[in-house]
Amino acid sequence: MKAAVCTRYGPPEVLQVRDVDDPFPGSNDVVIRIRAAAVTASDVFIRSAIPSGRLVMRLLLRVFVGFRRPRRPILGAVLAGEIESIGKNVTRFRVGDRVWAFTLLRFGCYAQRIRLPETTKLLAPAPSNLTDDEAAAIPYGALLALSFLRRARIQRGDQVLVYGASGAIGTAATQIAKHAGGMVTAVCSTANVELVRALGADAVLDYTKEKTPAGALYDVVFDAVGRRKTSPLKEVLTNALTREGRSISVDDRTPRFERTDLDELRGLVEAGILRPVIDRRYALEQIAEAHRYVEQGHKKGNVLITLAD
Ligand SMILES: NC(=O)c1ccc[n+]([C@@H]2O[C@H](COP(=O)([O-])OP(=O)(O)OC[C@H]3O[C@@H](n4cnc5c(N)ncnc54)[C@H](OP(=O)(O)O)[C@@H]3O)[C@@H](O)[C@H]2O)c1
Repeated sequence: MKAAVCTRYGPPEVLQVRDVDDPFPGSNDVVIRIRAAAVTASDVFIRSAIPSGRLVMRLLLRVFVGFRRPRRPILGAVLAGEIESIGKNVTRFRVGDRVWAFTLLRFGCYAQRIRLPETTKLLAPAPSNLTDDEAAAIPYGALLALSFLRRARIQRGDQVLVYGASGAIGTAATQIAKHAGGMVTAVCSTANVELVRALGADAVLDYTKEKTPAGALYDVVFDAVGRRKTSPLKEVLTNALTREGRSISVDDRTPRFERTDLDELRGLVEAGILRPVIDRRYALEQIAEAHRYVEQGHKKGNVLITLAD
């Protein structure tokens, strides 16, 4: 099969498409024919081994992922596709089932096929109302948004500010916060104002134009773009909290995922509450180009690799 292999840490060109052995399922495994995979900010972070990051972060990454190059050289952690074969003890899935998954540090999604244990924590039936491309655009942003917004404990009527509402996590957070009953103010640049409005934001602030908003206070301020991305508006808004207000950043802590998270997201998608936002699609052979684009840090929602037969 074809796969994009990360030959070492470095610029996008270290990703090379090669022929590798097809996986075969062990007794408790499934083999998934991957139809679409997401290219995420985390993939870029790992491929580049954050050359501009602090030394301690660079060392930690290498301990977990591999010292000279990723131990698991096929990157990509989000997939949508169908079960192609199963081991003799598998009971949860049948051949032909449509699934989606977030494989975390197992990676392996920039490939035509992947073998996973059927017990993989974040492997589940995909939503019935989405194509494979659309399905692959949900898990990364929505699982992270779900994890961080759980900590925010949004109550009906809460004023919720989502800073960076147009990225993978921001587009999902805007929709999930709205569904939780929040009155959502979304912050983005001029080009993305219509997008975040269409996702349900009650108010929109343009961080390229506004510097001092008119004194509003928020019950929840959620920084969906991380600490390295800021603006004069963000500096003001991070402290614009009510007395009980909570300020949460995606970079604060390691996200926590529950085994039931993908099923919860499938429910939201099938009910029309959560919808995918896709910026660009690339073929596997264009993986370096896809990384170059994601690395710029201005994608709208999600970037996908689509995998042909
Ligand atoms: N804790 C963890 O384990 C963990 C895991 C994954 C990700 N993260 C963090 O989450 C961040 C976001 O991930 P993501 O996948 O959602 O990113 P993303 O999709 O690449 O975000 C892109 C969006 O960021 C917006 N943006 C860029 N600079 C901005 C600024 N100064 N102010 C406001 N918006 C800005 C862009 O909007 P414009 O084009 O309009 O500027 C673009 O729409 C990552 O960079 C990382 O820091 C943390």
